[in-house]
Amino acid sequence: MRTTISLPIILTLALRATHALKIVLTNDDGWATAQVRAEFDALQAAGFQVLLSAPAINKSGTGSSTATPTVLSGPCEFNTCASGSPATGFNASNPLLNYVNSFPVDSVRFGIQTLAPKLFGSAPDLIVSGSNIGTNLGSISGSGTVGAASEAALEGFPSIAFSGSTGSQVSYTTLQSDPNSSSTLAAHLYTSLIIKFVNALVATPTPFLPKGVSLNVNFAATTSCPSASSFKFILTRVAASSSATDVATCGATRLPDETSTVKAGCFVSVSVFNATTKMDVSAATQAVVLNKLSPILSCRT
Ligand SMILES: *[C@@H]1O[C@H](CO)[C@@H](O)[C@H](O)[C@H]1NC(C)=O
Ligand SMILES: *[C@@H]1O[C@H](CO)[C@@H](O)[C@H](O)[C@H]1NC(C)=O
Ligand SMILES: *[C@@H]1O[C@H](CO)[C@@H](O)[C@H](O)[C@H]1NC(C)=O
Ligand SMILES: *[C@@H]1O[C@H](CO)[C@@H](O)[C@H](O)[C@H]1NC(C)=O
Repeated sequence: MRTTISLPIILTLALRATHALKIVLTNDDGWATAQVRAEFDALQAAGFQVLLSAPAINKSGTGSSTATPTVLSGPCEFNTCASGSPATGFNASNPLLNYVNSFPVDSVRFGIQTLAPKLFGSAPDLIVSGSNIGTNLGSISGSGTVGAASEAALEGFPSIAFSGSTGSQVSYTTLQSDPNSSSTLAAHLYTSLIIKFVNALVATPTPFLPKGVSLNVNFAATTSCPSASSFKFILTRVAASSSATDVATCGATRLPDETSTVKAGCFVSVSVFNATTKMDVSAATQAVVLNKLSPILSCRT
């Protein structure tokens, strides 16, 4: 018996193989932290083309600061490059792993404007910032993770800022050397939630997100929520407000705020924010994201 596969199916499969979605991955904790490297590996394994472009050293809490990258005046974090190394550089055995000796905003800009054309041959489809070590809730303008996501959105690229309660700013080598540490386990758990979230978003038609907005996504601590399946994604708002009118969902016209949500259980808060003001957006803009993500969203109970 002969199995025949129709031409359209062959073409579709070929297109899928050669048109894997292209992701620029960044953070503010630095290019060599365990969390971001766990994500790099998992996003690749999930079939995405991914390049990492992140600060050479810890740049936590630097918001939307920006400066021209400079030659290293000390080593990269965890001694991953020598003092005196160039302002931007990469892992010689894996050029998809890049550092930028400047702020998160400069790192993502370099990833989008310089690395993506060179390494992907085209613009990226999505920018993933973080997951940050430590949450970014309620007042997010000082966060470098949010700063990088905002920069991407303002350059016209869909972006998501992820942050999580559990984990520490440790080297990627600990993923192997310390496979059972809470930091390693959280890196893998949050990564699997990130893959689920990204897959849900990119399953929707383009544009993946409305213009000028980004998403602030925060994971509850893993302490009482040991597996990815124990987490629920909740649409939230950045600022707690008693008078806001939000998109109607879960029987209300006000969304729960992200700060209380992440403390209330095994929840992932998902807030839509204005990339310019880093504040909440209109109900109509929230509605676009609600419709896209409804397959994975739950109500907070
Ligand atoms: C990274 O920088 C932040 C902000 O300055 C600081 O709070 C944190 O302790 C630093 N992390 C490490 C591992 O030094
Ligand atoms: C560079 O890549 C190699 C091969 O994947 C890896 O063994 C090494 O740890 C990496 N170093 C850094 C700093 O990324
Ligand atoms: C990690 O935990 C697993 C399962 O509990 C165990 O089999 C393994 O030996 C542990 N590895 C290390 C390095 O502690
Ligand atoms: C973001 O805020 C700026 C300044 O208030 C405003 O001009 C812009 O329309 C807002 N964008 C979105 C998408 O809400």
